[in-house]
Amino acid sequence: MYKYDQNETPLFDALMEYVNRETIPFHVPGHKKGVGMDEEFKNFIGENPFKIDVTVFKLVDSLHHPTGPIKKAQELAADAYKSDAAFFSIHGTSGAIQAMIMSVVNAGDTIIIPRNVHKSITAGIILSGAVPVYMQPELDKKVGIAHGVTPETVEKTLRENPDAKAVLIINPTYYGVATDIKRIADIVHSYNIPLIVDEAHGPHLAFNENLPMSAMEAGADICAQSTHKIIGALTQCSLLQVKSKYIDTHRVQQILNLLQTTSPSYILMASLDCARRQIALHGKELLDRTIALANYARTEINKIPGFSCFGEEILGKPGAYAFDPTKITITSRELGLTGYDLDMILSNKYHIQMELSDLYNVLAVGSFGDTKESIDKLLEALNEISEEYSLKNSKKPDFIDIPPIPQQVLIPREAFNSHKTSIPLKDSVGMISGEFLLAYPPGIPVLCPGEIITQDIINYVQELKAAGLYVQGTEDPKVDNIKVVKKEDAVRISIE
Ligand SMILES: Cc1ncc(COP(=O)(O)O)c(C=O)c1O
Repeated sequence: MYKYDQNETPLFDALMEYVNRETIPFHVPGHKKGVGMDEEFKNFIGENPFKIDVTVFKLVDSLHHPTGPIKKAQELAADAYKSDAAFFSIHGTSGAIQAMIMSVVNAGDTIIIPRNVHKSITAGIILSGAVPVYMQPELDKKVGIAHGVTPETVEKTLRENPDAKAVLIINPTYYGVATDIKRIADIVHSYNIPLIVDEAHGPHLAFNENLPMSAMEAGADICAQSTHKIIGALTQCSLLQVKSKYIDTHRVQQILNLLQTTSPSYILMASLDCARRQIALHGKELLDRTIALANYARTEINKIPGFSCFGEEILGKPGAYAFDPTKITITSRELGLTGYDLDMILSNKYHIQMELSDLYNVLAVGSFGDTKESIDKLLEALNEISEEYSLKNSKKPDFIDIPPIPQQVLIPREAFNSHKTSIPLKDSVGMISGEFLLAYPPGIPVLCPGEIITQDIINYVQELKAAGLYVQGTEDPKVDNIKVVKKEDAVRISIE
């Protein structure tokens, strides 16, 4: 089923050879195999990590110009994920996303993206100088979260912007909800342009048939996967995969070289090499177990008064085409507790740390690091919280529909580089926003930098505040003031 022997770990093996040779280090890092390291830190972490914390030399290869074990390790990763080329990122998926965008669009090119993108996508757009056209994701008002964009939204946006050079989607979402990515890939390709996928939450999808379809399987052209989030690689590791007639892999390498450090951590890269071996060889069984445990948690949580945990019944709603059962979204809305409060109670009283919280939910990320014992501890805590808080609190209100996307007069790069001044929000109608303004739930920007502030938006912010909902993004935490682009800059940029 694989082209190469997935038992191999060429980079880890090269590092082991270096260790076994007992090489005398006259290279950086200066701790020299840990000898020069602070004792307390060394005693805690142990000696082995220092032995493979090396720098670029022939035996261990170079991330920027791979010809040896890193090249082989990347080829194995491409083989495991059925792509044409895989690249290691040690700047997380954030770095890989910036590289994807800069590989595909140039200054002035139009790129179609969802409105609720991760900040690394905004960074990629600022760095590239591209012009974003936004698609609104689908909203689930019951749980207060945004799902993906639908194929219909992609099709309509492409029809209205036939000059677009690429479409980017996020799939699956943080909460494990996936859109109909195959149909989206077909639509995007009918315009002869590439589909870029932020697959931060999907490095495991390709290895179990009970998970949503992966980007590469669906025919996407390029994707970035947070191997550190779900599978065994260490934090900061990510994979960038390419399978496309539209994308030049040499350019991808060049852009990664532009963005990534010249001193990449071999500890991180070796962990990625070994995590790929683990998922390629044992992904199916490990994920079967993960899914079974997460489904057990979901069933039990749904029995606890005041809590709910959605599963496949969510499918069929717009933007919800497939579901990743390893994601456990615990909704506390009926209990009258916000997700933020629940997060704090779990952390402070029970020493259980969730991945994230929002107004109605906390999210537990399932992985093959989970155990029945850890799930049972979570269930015990939720049962106690349910008893303690039921009927004490009143239900939080629904979220309020967000106003239409305002007019963009400066592209993100211009807005980012402009001079800004803070003024009262109520006096800002007609000005160009220098900041984001986000409504929670569902965490979608109402305003992005470079867009014109409207009376509708100001009224909406007031409505949110009056309803006890959240609005964030401005430097002023109360959102009474907003930074706008200074008049001189607004005029100068629009003349240029
Ligand atoms: C949708 C999405 N994209 C990209 C990223 C960035 O990933 P990383 O933390 O690996 O840089 C995240 C991080 O949470 C994310 O949620």
